[in-house]
Amino acid sequence: MRAALAAAIRAMALLAVAAMLIGSTEAAKKYLFKTCAQSSFCRRGRAYADAAEAAGADWHPPYAVDPASVQLRQGVLSGTVVKTAVDADGAAVGVKLPFQLVFLESGAVRFLIEEDRPKSAPKRYDEAVRWAISGDLGATAAVEDVTTAADTAAGVRRLRFGPGWTAVVELATVRVTFERDGAAQVVLNERGLLAVEHWRPRGPGPAFGGEDTTDMWEESFGGKQDSKPNGPEAVAVDVTFPGYGHVYGIPEHADRFALRSTRGGEGNHDEPYRLYNVDIFEYEVDSPMAMYGAIPFMQAQRAGSAVGVFWANAAETWIDIVHGADGTRTHWLSEAGLVDVFVMLGPDATSLYQQYGALTGYAELPPLYSLGYHQCRWNYQNERDVLEVDAGFDRHEIPYDVIWLDIDYTDSRKYFTWEQSAFPTPERMMAALDERRRKLVAIIDPHIKKEAGYGVYEDMTKAGLAVATADGGEYNGWCWPGESAWIDTLAPAAVEYWKRLFRPGAFAGRAHNLAIWNDMNEPSVFDGPEGSAPRDARHYGGWEHRAVHNLYGMTFHNATVQALNAREPRQRPFVLTRAFFAGSQRVGPMWTGDNQATWDYLRVATPMLLSSSVAGYGFVGADVGGFFGNPEHELWARWYQAGAFYPFFRGHAHIESKRREPWLAGEPYTGIIRDAIRLRYQLLPSLYTAFHRASFDGSPILRPLFMLAPANDAALAIDDQFFFGETGLLVKPVVDPGVTETDVYVPDDEVYYGYPDRTVYRGVGNHRVPAGLDTIPMLARGGHIFTRRDRYRRSTALMAHDPLTLVVSVDAAGNAGGALYMDDGETHGHTKGAYLHRFFMFSSQDNILRSRSVRPSTAASRAFDKTIDTVRVERVIVVGFDLGRLKAGQTTVETFQDKKSWSSHISVTPAADGRASMIVVRDPKVLITADWSIEF
Ligand code: GLC
Repeated sequence: MRAALAAAIRAMALLAVAAMLIGSTEAAKKYLFKTCAQSSFCRRGRAYADAAEAAGADWHPPYAVDPASVQLRQGVLSGTVVKTAVDADGAAVGVKLPFQLVFLESGAVRFLIEEDRPKSAPKRYDEAVRWAISGDLGATAAVEDVTTAADTAAGVRRLRFGPGWTAVVELATVRVTFERDGAAQVVLNERGLLAVEHWRPRGPGPAFGGEDTTDMWEESFGGKQDSKPNGPEAVAVDVTFPGYGHVYGIPEHADRFALRSTRGGEGNHDEPYRLYNVDIFEYEVDSPMAMYGAIPFMQAQRAGSAVGVFWANAAETWIDIVHGADGTRTHWLSEAGLVDVFVMLGPDATSLYQQYGALTGYAELPPLYSLGYHQCRWNYQNERDVLEVDAGFDRHEIPYDVIWLDIDYTDSRKYFTWEQSAFPTPERMMAALDERRRKLVAIIDPHIKKEAGYGVYEDMTKAGLAVATADGGEYNGWCWPGESAWIDTLAPAAVEYWKRLFRPGAFAGRAHNLAIWNDMNEPSVFDGPEGSAPRDARHYGGWEHRAVHNLYGMTFHNATVQALNAREPRQRPFVLTRAFFAGSQRVGPMWTGDNQATWDYLRVATPMLLSSSVAGYGFVGADVGGFFGNPEHELWARWYQAGAFYPFFRGHAHIESKRREPWLAGEPYTGIIRDAIRLRYQLLPSLYTAFHRASFDGSPILRPLFMLAPANDAALAIDDQFFFGETGLLVKPVVDPGVTETDVYVPDDEVYYGYPDRTVYRGVGNHRVPAGLDTIPMLARGGHIFTRRDRYRRSTALMAHDPLTLVVSVDAAGNAGGALYMDDGETHGHTKGAYLHRFFMFSSQDNILRSRSVRPSTAASRAFDKTIDTVRVERVIVVGFDLGRLKAGQTTVETFQDKKSWSSHISVTPAADGRASMIVVRDPKVLITADWSIEF
């Protein structure tokens, strides 16, 4: 009841602002958030771009590198960009903007422009990289100056830094062209839109000639005033990708995967894509509007080539995109901070993700249970409700691993407390869950109820750990608990305090099966500007909220992970976040927020998850079933079929929606949902292997088609299909009602097999496949081997000793390969060598399937092997094998392990009716820890 009330208050607070703006509550949310024209720096930036466009060859922007300042030392080209401006008295001034071009070890190149401000002026925010970047920012010495005499005469510096990679710097125009083998791939400032709004004293009248000075010194929106004490300090640059027809990434937007042009036209947007973390209540689909998270990383892709840029800026950012016949032009604008761009030259998607990961970090391997199914709702009412839902899964033989508690487990939304009447014995409840090896996730948000006597609020206030107002007082606003203050997790002392709150005994007793959900960390402030914190609020270090807005959520997420690490140093932490920034992938998973129970939201989830996947954030999911509303049964079932492939797989529902536990759907829907969840559990060994790969090279879990079919231009815009990890499974979730068949696009010349029906599909283009309600359209690409665990268990932990099944889908040449990674799934032992890593290879040369360890054998690895030395392969399924290579009437294959050999029985199904052949080796008795071969 109370929750419903608070939700209503939240909606009303937001709608009231909208109503004030537009005089009605209709389509309110659009009006809650700024358009580019309502954000003064974006308006100025776009006008600047328009002026450049209109001027054409006559565009002469006031920025140039001072040639005398340029020097190359130890992998860094540095110097000064001079901006010629006119001050209030009409006198010309040269604003000094020191720049660096830093050639990094990882192959990325950093282009950084700072501003030489007078000592008395406030500093520009320069710590975004401190939060976003975990890699080494030091330069590599392997840069060769290949500037020719002609270059020098033309004011050009030419530097070679990689395998045929060159950076060409034109001093007079501050243009930097990045080439591969002499062909331009990325051009910074090609259109001359570089802009740095330099510091100037606040004075009467227009400060500088020619500039539109409206809203430079204060700005208001939705009745909220922004005091802008530093005046204008936006930065911008244009980035051109010559020859690239598609760009991706820059999550989070509820839009297509291949980003659209943003300057109007049929099917395009009129607004730039916006990055500004907001609690976008009932967001719209097919929109460039800002959402909960922001990763300013963009990939450009064309047949056979991938490149990318990372714009390391945490302030409000807008990105205009224009696709043309000769490539894609983009324009990046941020309200504060620095011009700090990292250029990565690929040359393919996998290398690009590795380069981006080398900068912003790779996701750590999550605990295995967190890849199982999560059951959430706002709210499970009390301990009995939780345990009944838990038992319901067992009664209906549906595996699951984690049950979640939303905000109403607390006493009056005071985090770290429990509503006594409903949750009198949380530890007992958690112990009961633990018996079935299940976990509990409790929500903890960053708003702290302002209430005398509430210890967390009092401690935080006393220690000055809350976000402050522009004039240094404590910032207060409304959120779930009513009036609140926000913990400032940019402050190291706040992180230390946060750790104390999670100490064993301090929260949830000493339970070991606790994980956390961080929500509303954009931060969401019901009565704040655009539903967030005021830009002139202050954080630790005196920084304005404006400059750190997009990374605040990550600092909160990070504090919680640190707290769990301190509580349980032996366990891998699990903390879900809603707000995120570049680097959040290192911290923990995110989900796409408050979607709706309609087909549109199921449809848009796939491109949304792909967009974050290519931006380094692979552990992602969307609320299965849809958060708001009640899904019709067909949608409910289809969503589970899609969700089974979401890297993070959670059912969740709004407090006013009907109960959604899978068994409430009734048949045939419950059965379909059960099958989807069981399929997920069956594929866990493969999924975990993909997460392991992501943890060292950033490979996405959900892979866009271009990763496996990079040469096919026609596949670049397809975003309703993906490859699942390393399995070679090409999945196309059904996202429309009434479907019985669908077209699956085969992106390359490889042979594909219907999974599991083995129908052969061959040839680039659409293939009609069955897609009735009980079917997930899926094709297994030839050439891959993946592993499954086929037995139903109640949770992941109970599968640890189950045997494995190998699925071998041979390619057109009769070969296949794949990997398996395993460890204990919960501790950090794997970082000390306690893991198993094997490759499986099937060769048409000798008809042998081999298992080989690719892990160094150490004491730790051998000790780990001992814990799983009973785990065997119970079945090998080989699809597409040329049966002519078997002997007539052959019923066995020879198996070799540990210098012994024996015969294993096979059953053989010949190819027929368009289906490939299948050989099943029954119980070959080979161990997962051993090297072995099976000779067909
Ligand atoms: C936000 C979250 C949603 C949660 C609710 C209550 O709307 O996005 O998942 O249930 O808050 O905590």
